[in-house]
Amino acid sequence: MRQIIPAKDPLNLSIKVPGDKSISHRALMFTGFTDGESHIRHLGTGADIRSTMKVLRQLGLQIDYSSKKNSARVVAGGLQDLIKPANSLDAGNSGTTMRLMSGLLAGRPFESVLTGDESLRSRPMNRIVDPLRSMGASIKSTGHGTAPLEIRPARLTGIDYAMPVASAQVKSAIILAGLQADGHTIIREQAISRRHTEVMLGQFGAPIEIKGPVITLEGLSGPLAPYNFTVPGDPSSAAFWAAAAALIPGSSCQIEDVHLSEERIGFYYVLKEMGAHVKIQVADDTIEPRGNVKVSSNGLKGISLGSEDIPGIIDELPLVAVLGAYADGKTTVRDAKELRYKECDRIKAVVSNLRAMHVNIEEFEDGFELTGENPAVGADLNSYGDHRIAMAFGIAALGATGNSQMKNPDAASVSYPEYWQIIDSFSTDS
Ligand code: S3P
Repeated sequence: MRQIIPAKDPLNLSIKVPGDKSISHRALMFTGFTDGESHIRHLGTGADIRSTMKVLRQLGLQIDYSSKKNSARVVAGGLQDLIKPANSLDAGNSGTTMRLMSGLLAGRPFESVLTGDESLRSRPMNRIVDPLRSMGASIKSTGHGTAPLEIRPARLTGIDYAMPVASAQVKSAIILAGLQADGHTIIREQAISRRHTEVMLGQFGAPIEIKGPVITLEGLSGPLAPYNFTVPGDPSSAAFWAAAAALIPGSSCQIEDVHLSEERIGFYYVLKEMGAHVKIQVADDTIEPRGNVKVSSNGLKGISLGSEDIPGIIDELPLVAVLGAYADGKTTVRDAKELRYKECDRIKAVVSNLRAMHVNIEEFEDGFELTGENPAVGADLNSYGDHRIAMAFGIAALGATGNSQMKNPDAASVSYPEYWQIIDSFSTDS
């Protein structure tokens, strides 16, 4: 249990956040395709990234990680040097680790089992099992379509796959399998999800072509060259401070060196549409765009979000709900049923926490609708073991009238272990 005290004064922040979680996972995993020594700097600091490192080590990669510098030196010998793991591979709480590694392991000539914590073992895995099987993979989920996933050696063939859900994890699993398959793989997206896998692998020399919503690739003819890569700051972690600056009157927040691809910055556009002052400046566009963002409070008004908006803001939707509680008028989020399949059922978690704060909110199967008419009051909150719920409601509590308590706040450490220390620095009595 943690007590959260409302912010005493307007915030005036200048912040640099840890490396992007999605990009860190990928920068580490893709070394499995390389032959030589790669150096990755400014990695994400959360437990999910450690899960990926642990899994990769079990597969024989030599990873020297410095927690002081958040950097890793990885020595790899190409895909054929990966070894059969002695034990099952534990992805912990990390959906990205489990789903992407399934695609990578589906093409390897050894057996492996991927498992995870209770939350991850309850999340849907047939969304990757089905397309991987149609490529020829031998992969088995439980009768409920969940992990553990048992993967056996199989010969893979490329597919032409129309994505039924907007999911970068599913898309990435197919790409990582496709790089080991005979023939071409084509992936067609209805709505474009984050593109890190195809963009990064393309930059690292893999035969991948991106044309709008269609990605085409073929099997690798040899290992990729090792790389030096610095991970930009995580815009999803920075979003908490941007939201705090937008909802606490008189506040501002300068975020430095953050990742800025269009598929990841939907939240900053939403903030702008809700009335905050937002300035986005791209400083470097070498592999993927990165730069600075400045957000200052200017009052907030409600917003309505639907299908086209959702993929670009999927991880920030709990924060949109929190902002809605401090905005004039109605905030509506629909076509977001995917939220029910995240680290917890995020629709349920948002609704019950906001109701505890006396916010008027209605739950739908695919979203929620709320009004900011009642000021949010401090309450007993629950993270439901989900990092983004913990952090979104840390921000909600910061703007509320009266103190809040949160059950299981440490869930935040999955992506942002430094989060509560920063929050504490804003509070009255700390
Ligand atoms: C991620 C993709 C998204 C996102 C998750 C990270 C990734 O999940 O919610 O936090 O790194 O590919 P889905 O692919 O399930 O949408």
